[in-house]
Amino acid sequence: HGPIPHSPTGAPSKDSDTAAAQQGARLTTATGVPLRDTDHSLKAGPRGPVLLQDHHLREKIMHFDHERIPERVVHARGAAAHGVFRSNGAASELTKAAFLAEGATTPVFTRFSTVLGSRGSADTVRDTRGFAVKFYTTEGNFDLVGNNIPVFFIQDAIKFPDVIHAGKPHPDVEIPQAQSAHDTFWDFVSLHTEAQHHAMWNMSDRGIPRSYRMMEGFGVHTFRLVNAEGATTLVKFHWKPRLGVHSLTWEEAQIAAGVDPDFHRRDLADAIEAGAHPEWDLGVQVFPDTPEQMFAGIDLLDSTKIIPEELAPVQVIGTMTLNANPGNYFAETEQVAFHAGHFVPGIDATDDPLFQGRLFSYLDTQLTRLGGPNFDQIPINRPHAPVNDMLRDGFHQDAVHTGIAPYKPNSLDGGCPFLAGEDMSGFIDVPHPIEASVKVRENPATFDDHYSQTRLFYRSLTPVEQAHVAQAYTFELGKCYEQAIKERQLQALANIDAELCATVAAGLGLPAPEPTIPLTDETPSPALSQIGGTWPID
Ligand code: HEM
Repeated sequence: HGPIPHSPTGAPSKDSDTAAAQQGARLTTATGVPLRDTDHSLKAGPRGPVLLQDHHLREKIMHFDHERIPERVVHARGAAAHGVFRSNGAASELTKAAFLAEGATTPVFTRFSTVLGSRGSADTVRDTRGFAVKFYTTEGNFDLVGNNIPVFFIQDAIKFPDVIHAGKPHPDVEIPQAQSAHDTFWDFVSLHTEAQHHAMWNMSDRGIPRSYRMMEGFGVHTFRLVNAEGATTLVKFHWKPRLGVHSLTWEEAQIAAGVDPDFHRRDLADAIEAGAHPEWDLGVQVFPDTPEQMFAGIDLLDSTKIIPEELAPVQVIGTMTLNANPGNYFAETEQVAFHAGHFVPGIDATDDPLFQGRLFSYLDTQLTRLGGPNFDQIPINRPHAPVNDMLRDGFHQDAVHTGIAPYKPNSLDGGCPFLAGEDMSGFIDVPHPIEASVKVRENPATFDDHYSQTRLFYRSLTPVEQAHVAQAYTFELGKCYEQAIKERQLQALANIDAELCATVAAGLGLPAPEPTIPLTDETPSPALSQIGGTWPID
């Protein structure tokens, strides 16, 4: 299977894609037999009964009956667009990735989403937003599968089913507001206090973006870059919207959800249609790849932590422009299969236990969602690089492979790339040392602090933004039925900020508890001057 042809804008070219789907002016059956009538079933006489013999009737209804595929287990509701990424070359000393070389331009497909709602839910709900970008590079696909919030609820992927179960509509009546989806969410985040930081971002105006075009995006995890000499660096990826970061007020979000549940997808499609192509700069925070994988006292493998930009500025390495709407929602937005583990040479994973679990989850879920193991052959998922894999057969196999049995080394297949010497341009797993001495089920002590960065974020907000946060906690916790859960969450707020806790407690008509830890303005980070070190790029 070859690459899907794309127009210069990055969108699939209509002619080649629709050729397989629709040819000629005549209506036909799926096997190409011209039809004369598609409005009347074949009947024994004008008043029936209908005859089983009617192939067109059965084929038409059978196919319609199977038009839907399972929605994504998370991030089910999304909107996407085609575009192009232009690299400025600033990262080329850090990574050998060809698409980050100076002047390289790469087609992209970007899907924005909510996390918890079903496919038909409203756009403007309070939630995290997905920000997933597929780069069709000359060295294969690179997917940056991020969110609009820089931290995540949990530190270990083994808790992912739990946090999602706690947030999704309740299993009996499937209503989020029913007893007890609010209870389960707040029960989870107050019992698993590592979730407090992400929850605080959700309660802030970041949880109700005004537009997909006005959101930041974050790769969240730390990634490892490797350059042509084999030297490695640790980075965090950031998308910075050229339109700035803007949010709705809670009242606007509520009204939009009722009046126009498609508010965000309409906004994105309309802007692109009108030629107002949204742009984001891609940047990296750069950290030395030390054996500790820490920076400024912060564990780089802990996805509930940020590195403040004052300590490690975001350095721009390229720009993405979204310039074409999908031609077919199902074929593109619904069938696109992002995978956090789709790397190209020059970019690799770190040992972040949240990330490691994602490496399994995406392939596994797509096996069911997209009906078998050949979803990489779906046009929107096809790389623009040549594919020469040893994957054969299976459900929805479109390719007709020829030649002899695929295995390597193979002296019968006319040449074996594996014997041709070490090709440094291929993907190499960076030989990073691991310190393991025993198998354990436990977190490092550096994952323990759940409050100081939550406090740091809250105290970075303006008074108006802080008032919105207090209102959001009061509203959301007010939907809980269990008093013990409200009290436990108030205890967490007491450990974050006394004034915030007091305001929310008053709103709920409950006493404000005393903190159980010392409250300071200090973050665990030493001052900037203590960090030292030189950065590979300015
Ligand atoms: C889907 C981001 C953690 C499992 C997605 C999508 C995004 C995303 C953006 C939607 C992709 C699309 O538009 O199609 C993130 C981020 C995470 C995170 C930023 C943490 C930093 C996890 C974890 C797991 C997981 C820990 C599982 C252990 C999934 C699954 C899907 C998904 C199963 C649905 C994929 C599909 O059906 O194609 N995630 N996720 N995610 N995520 Fe995550």
